[in-house]
Amino acid sequence: MGRVINKRILLGVCGGIAAYKAAELLRLLRKQGCEVRVVMTAAAARFVAPLTFQALSGHSVHSELLDPEQEQAMSHIQLARWADLLLIAPATADTLAKMAHGLADDLLSTLYLAAECPVYVAPAMNQAMWGKPVTQENIARLQQHGVTVIGPAAGEQACGEQGYGRMVEPAEIVQSVLIQSTGGLIAGLKLVVSAGPTREPLDPVRFISNRSSGKMGYALTKAAVAAGADVTLVSGPVHLPAPTGAKFIQVETALQMYQAVLNACADADLYIGAAAVADYRAKQVAGRKLKKGEAEDSVIELEKNPDIVAAVAGLLPKPWVVGFAAETDDLENYALGKLRSKNLDMIAANWVGRAEGGFDSERNALQVFWPDGRKTLEMADKTSLAVQLLQLIAERMHEKNPIKNP
Ligand code: C5P
Repeated sequence: MGRVINKRILLGVCGGIAAYKAAELLRLLRKQGCEVRVVMTAAAARFVAPLTFQALSGHSVHSELLDPEQEQAMSHIQLARWADLLLIAPATADTLAKMAHGLADDLLSTLYLAAECPVYVAPAMNQAMWGKPVTQENIARLQQHGVTVIGPAAGEQACGEQGYGRMVEPAEIVQSVLIQSTGGLIAGLKLVVSAGPTREPLDPVRFISNRSSGKMGYALTKAAVAAGADVTLVSGPVHLPAPTGAKFIQVETALQMYQAVLNACADADLYIGAAAVADYRAKQVAGRKLKKGEAEDSVIELEKNPDIVAAVAGLLPKPWVVGFAAETDDLENYALGKLRSKNLDMIAANWVGRAEGGFDSERNALQVFWPDGRKTLEMADKTSLAVQLLQLIAERMHEKNPIKNP
């Protein structure tokens, strides 16, 4: 992942089987440029050795409330003041209950009470424990107190049961924390994303398409869902699982994508056109498989598809509109031309056909242009790039339409 922010994060690790995933979480936070100090409960230290977190964070792990040596190095109050953000992952039912009721009988619960920074928890527990009214009451109480709850996710649990209670995957926690803590401007927005290629049939077995993998649009969808947006993803045919938490509309042709996007955009705040829409479709689609040489002079007549992003930009009222441009040459001129001709609010341009980045790659770099500015987002994996692009979009959107103070 690319470098997004430079935050001091206090990572609280509780005693659950998901504690081993906190090591990966720590590694990913470090990769994002965060400085991390780890606090483990006594039970957490029975699941994963503190040495693991010491090695990954570069600092000794804090676990005792009344340890004179640790208090001398950095007291629990200093530790709480040091942090820009307290993230507890995994957060067990027990620690959540303590936090909800103001108990402070160990270092982590005491730090929560002393902390004045934003607090995030990623619960992890058995599905029955998560579903218990008392746990739900505790969660609701913590949310009222301003704690952000990430997950839990549904699926198979370590105990073999199915249901809600799995800790959200580390990469998604990082994404959620970074995007929420660096703006939170996306939360509540109604967002439509298009992704992937379209397929324009020639006959029942053949089609015209392109190399788009859909990875950028899917990464944007996941990042926006994690940031609390209400997302509709309109996707052409790709080999990616439908992202959880978003409304998913599967299409094949440009005309189908056009219909689906325009319907979804009727009351949207933001449209991001990350799809690689075929510019042309066959004028005639054969009802049966074409035989060799059957098309006259081997010529296939094409007609132009409607420009989806330009149509969305022509809606009244119009959502904020972001287009993409994939170019093999003269990137800046082509991108600026499209920004103007399609009446876009922003365009994210990238090189294609080069050694790194582009359509089927895990990584990409973007040159982003808007009518009175530009920014380069350096080569990074598409997950990180999606977070950065969303932040930029949110900043630009709110600069034009500032949030009014109540
Ligand atoms: O003109 P070009 O295809 O390079 O522009 C790319 C941008 O326009 C992308 O945002 C793409 O989703 C959008 N587009 C569209 N409908 C088309 C062609 C492109 O929305 N028919």
